[in-house]
Amino acid sequence: MKHRYILMALIAGGAAFSASASAVQVSIVCGAVGQELTLCKEEADAWAAKTGNTVRVLDTVNSTTDRLAYYQQNLSAGNSDIDVYEVDVVYPGLLKNYLLDLTPYIPKVDRDQHFKGIFENNILDGKLLAMPWFTDGGLLYYRKDLLAKYGFKNPPKTWQEMAMQAKKIQDGEQKTNKNFYGYVFQGKAYEGLTCDALEWINSFKGGTIIDSKGTITINNPNAIAALSFFAKQIKLISPPAVTTYDEEGARAVWQSGNAAFMRNWPYAYSLSEAKDSPVAGRFGASALPKGGVTGQSSAAQGGWGLAVSKFSKYPKESASLVQYLSSNAVQKERAIKGSYNPTIPALYKDAELLKATPIFGSLYDVFTGSVARPATITGAKYNQVSSMFWTAVSNTIQGTGSAATNLRNLESQLKALKGAGW
Ligand code: GLC
Repeated sequence: MKHRYILMALIAGGAAFSASASAVQVSIVCGAVGQELTLCKEEADAWAAKTGNTVRVLDTVNSTTDRLAYYQQNLSAGNSDIDVYEVDVVYPGLLKNYLLDLTPYIPKVDRDQHFKGIFENNILDGKLLAMPWFTDGGLLYYRKDLLAKYGFKNPPKTWQEMAMQAKKIQDGEQKTNKNFYGYVFQGKAYEGLTCDALEWINSFKGGTIIDSKGTITINNPNAIAALSFFAKQIKLISPPAVTTYDEEGARAVWQSGNAAFMRNWPYAYSLSEAKDSPVAGRFGASALPKGGVTGQSSAAQGGWGLAVSKFSKYPKESASLVQYLSSNAVQKERAIKGSYNPTIPALYKDAELLKATPIFGSLYDVFTGSVARPATITGAKYNQVSSMFWTAVSNTIQGTGSAATNLRNLESQLKALKGAGW
């Protein structure tokens, strides 16, 4: 068996991934949202075949919040049973003590091909803690057929317009389908809600919770107006269970044809277009609406990278797997098969890719103009910051306290957490 792999590796060529003299087993933990796990397995196996090593692919819970807890538990115990971790863009500051500096392992040409901002997000204290794998930006998915049916020519440009369209479509559709709702999103109390609510607030020009200098800005009139607006509208246009939805929860309702609008990441595009999808050919995706005519469209910046554990017994092989998975060829394949956004600008000009997933061309500005969560500035405290924020938002949309009270309390909590500085 091993001989066959070595032979295949020699045929496949490529100095960077040639068969190693002594094969090892590398373990990687990948996400399982949408097609992530299937693709991760295929690609990791291809690397194994090229190099003669073997790879064990582990999956994990969908919620990035729960994943972080699992990673932290594993890494703080110094476990070496997982070599490569798929890490969220908000993790580097939280996991920095446990991750290997990849600079010596990844050739400069591979390092230099990514969007600068996304790449630099992974550099802390001069160490390259992860290689970018895919980027994410929030989108508005809308049902073209239903907009037409109810006399709307275009998808909404403002959230106010979205709420009005959603209500009209919902009222009409509910006459024959009690399960139909206007708007689904990530309403569960977790990191996903932080992304959605950051988009709402930023679109009303209410800032980013904490600004790039570390100042706590969340208690401001525009942020209060945004949250008050959504708390009110959600009762009218979202299912009561939306407060339990993550990405896949929202997609389940949308993809079964039971929602007019959905906020989600690009991965939902290719799944919604799949042959067996009831909404295939009947939807579009656009930039998220503005918070009123004087507002701005705002997409939260998401995405994932690949990191090697400091405790790995096989740093060289693990870094080789990371190099392979984050390469141009694999990112292109993932973009075509799963609409995962590449982190390599050159790929956004690739004709084959643009044909398979046209939103990478039409919504390019959304992906390059997205708004970061305050993770870099708050470093090791980011998860607490985010958890205080999503709790305040969750309470507000569930009617526990007004936006004004909850954001004032949040400001005090954040001040106490910040102390003398982040
Ligand atoms: C997506 C994003 C990630 C974000 C998460 C929130 O996976 O890529 O950055 O933290 O959603 O649920």
